[in-house]
Amino acid sequence: MSESAASKPIPGGKDVLVEFEDGIAWVQINRPEKRNAMSVGLAEEMNEVLDALELDDRCGVIVLTGVGEAFSAGMDLKDFFRATDGISDVARHRAYRSTRAWQWRTLMHYAKPTIAMVNGWCFGGAFTPLICCDLAIADEKAVFGLSEINWGIIPGGVVSKAIATLMGDRQALYYVMTGKQFDGAKAVELGLVNEAVPKDQLRARTAELARELLAKNPTVLRQARMAYKFAREMSWEHAAEYLTAKVDQTNFVDPEQGKQQGLKQFLDEKTFRPGMGNYVRPK
Ligand code: COA
Repeated sequence: MSESAASKPIPGGKDVLVEFEDGIAWVQINRPEKRNAMSVGLAEEMNEVLDALELDDRCGVIVLTGVGEAFSAGMDLKDFFRATDGISDVARHRAYRSTRAWQWRTLMHYAKPTIAMVNGWCFGGAFTPLICCDLAIADEKAVFGLSEINWGIIPGGVVSKAIATLMGDRQALYYVMTGKQFDGAKAVELGLVNEAVPKDQLRARTAELARELLAKNPTVLRQARMAYKFAREMSWEHAAEYLTAKVDQTNFVDPEQGKQQGLKQFLDEKTFRPGMGNYVRPK
């Protein structure tokens, strides 16, 4: 497949909207009338969109957000609970597979950096894509909740696993067991998002963070994200071997040869100190 698919139209346009802005692809869940509940159709569209954006030169960073007043009200309860109760096991399997693909498998190992911008309601299943984005910024008044316990289900899909990667056991179990809501500021405290800002600053602050990522060496940024995500699942011994090899591999595949550039600027030219800012990337 060609490395660049910039000229190809991006799929979506119904439940998923994409807007490009100077290297940022704003990917918006577009079911505002259903508070962006995530349906089977949405999953199929999102899988196509994320696949296309990975090879699209207009996209250097993805921001995942929602149209209207919700980030997402979680799994579409009609599609994933009532409708799947009456369908064949194969159709049910397929619906879950589509959803798992975009919500965690793809996002967790995406080739480009991802930021979740939580613009409003964020419930249940919405925690999975939120957590599987690399970074997250929320409206300080956004409302989060693991509401499942209050109406007879458990945080399923892979929500329980996802929250265990970011929240401590005491906090995670508190919200799993009470279903209590919390706001964006609390989400920062819980480690679910990096920052919470007033609604009128949300897009600008998210764009600023995205631009900061766009200015980095993209190869090294990708390798650093992947190295972190894989190393955290390994033993110390395996992680040490893996990371040593990953440093060499990064050097090998980096077209900018960032490591050589940085070392030259620090050790030979004395123009840059790693602890005091960025080295000058080659043009
Ligand atoms: N699944 C399916 N449909 C949903 C939904 C979900 N998770 N969340 C909202 N909707 C639908 C509603 O059924 C309603 O549809 P209708 O217009 O056909 O009746 C529409 O979206 C608007 O919802 P409504 O409840 O009227 O909006 P609200 O602004 O008053 O409240 C929420 C917003 C998010 C508080 C409320 O919709 C809600 O509690 N949703 C469920 C959240 C949840 O527990 N999700 C966990 C799922 S894993």
